Amino acid sequence: MRRFRLFTYAALVPLALVLSACSRGCSCSCGHGGAGAGAGQEVADAKPPRVPSEASRNEYVARCGKCHGADGTGNGPSAAQYKTKPQDFTSRDFQRGITDDEIRAMVLKGGKASGKSGLMPAYPDLARRRETLEDMVAIVRDFGPK
Ligand code: HEC
Repeated sequence: MRRFRLFTYAALVPLALVLSACSRGCSCSCGHGGAGAGAGQEVADAKPPRVPSEASRNEYVARCGKCHGADGTGNGPSAAQYKTKPQDFTSRDFQRGITDDEIRAMVLKGGKASGKSGLMPAYPDLARRRETLEDMVAIVRDFGPK
């Protein structure tokens, strides 16, 4: 009899874990509800996204938008004159292939320092304005497919 109870509890623990994970996953994925959105990804991505300040959004448009576009697609007003297209931030492959640290390094040190095009300028002033730098990372991420 004892043995049976132990077995029952052992079976219930993972079940409870799965259920609690699901309720968390569901509450956060309901709003998105997109077809084909990977449910597993939603659960793994537990941290709420950073909300960039209005000032940072304006700064993105003024500094980055001329190349990357106010909409992040890489089609800003200056983009056409360059041989290397400014990165399209709405690309799923791009978002998956880059870490937040790599985005920070790209913005602080420019494209050349990471073996990319020197057309991507360096913004060393953001090293002393960490909040704005973090906002830039959040803005770049925000353009990604939901
Ligand atoms: C003068 C045009 C220009 C401006 C202004 C500019 N970029 Fe870029 N950026 C580029 C180009 C061109 C690339 C593509 C480089 C490559 O693929 O070799 C790029 C690439 C990137 C990448 C992707 C790097 C990678 O590893 O794929 C990020 C992130 C980025 N830019 C962020 C920013 C942010 C944030 C700003 C504003 C603070 C900004 N850029 C301003 C031209 C620009």
